[in-house]
Amino acid sequence: MPTPEHVILRELLAHEPNWVSGSVLGEKLGMSRVAVWLHMKKLREAGFVFAAQRARGYRILARPSAPHAALIDSQLKVRPRGFSLVTLDETDSTNDEAARQLAAGRITPFAVVARKQTNGRGRLGRAWHSEANGNLYLSVAFRPRVPPERMGAFTLWMGLNLCELLANFAKVAPGLKWPNDLLLDGRKVGGILTEARVDADQIRDLVFGLGLNVNSTAADWPGHLGRTAVSLAEITGAPLDFNRLAAALLGRVLLAYDNFADGSYMKTFADLWHRYDVLRGKRIALLEGGRRHAGTVAGLDDEGALLLRDEAGRNQRFRAGEVTIEKTPS
Ligand code: BTN
Repeated sequence: MPTPEHVILRELLAHEPNWVSGSVLGEKLGMSRVAVWLHMKKLREAGFVFAAQRARGYRILARPSAPHAALIDSQLKVRPRGFSLVTLDETDSTNDEAARQLAAGRITPFAVVARKQTNGRGRLGRAWHSEANGNLYLSVAFRPRVPPERMGAFTLWMGLNLCELLANFAKVAPGLKWPNDLLLDGRKVGGILTEARVDADQIRDLVFGLGLNVNSTAADWPGHLGRTAVSLAEITGAPLDFNRLAAALLGRVLLAYDNFADGSYMKTFADLWHRYDVLRGKRIALLEGGRRHAGTVAGLDDEGALLLRDEAGRNQRFRAGEVTIEKTPS
């Protein structure tokens, strides 16, 4: 059910940069102009700035930089039936919040976006730096009901889609470092944490978590992260419209999920992989369960496992691991 804020924002966004009169908004909402004004006040409190003229109506002058549910929702180009979105000022982890909502029976797909996480988690039990610094903490929940082995390449497929979206949206040149790192200029701009609960032979539910460094500044990183992490804004030189980007990303995630679920992803996977894979032919070290394996990346298998050619020319296959690219001597 769209809220009055949704209806107002959809109208204003659809007519940008033109004005929309208070009486048109009133008609759409079935409310008086005074009631409309009260909803506009609520939007102002959330960070919107409107131009208002008695004879012409309203126009958006500035949008909030914090996550705003109605603003994200109004800009979604893909909206599956039953889809819902929650934005939170703060939560422990959006993946954990999504898992709680799944357990409570919430209809999928749904998304959780937070301005800040107090217990943001990365792969391999690591912490994910999650201050309220303009970065994105997003989880999207699904109930795929398929055998777990069908989800092998899911995280890679989603990562490739995110690379393409970021390249188009922000005019940057991202890369995907197997299995889940989004890179810009060799530094980490984002990471994916996919978590599934599995029943005997099928996935009960799945949470796709994305941490993306959007608008943090170089000064926001604690010491050790300054060398390895980067935000989109650091690369583009200007802050990005957070809610417009969140809507574009979310739309792409929902579409990419559908392509994965119906198998059509296989038609474009290899193409995207060639475009965005940063490991092709590289000498790497792969840490897996405390063991270090060195070799040259030889590609991927059908399940998304990494193939590594060792010194003796044998291919080894890895389903998980932490990759470091070895420096080539200069
Ligand atoms: C990684 O690179 O190790 C994955 C990082 C994933 C971080 C995101 S932020 C949103 C979601 N909630 C979490 O606690 N983790 C993921």
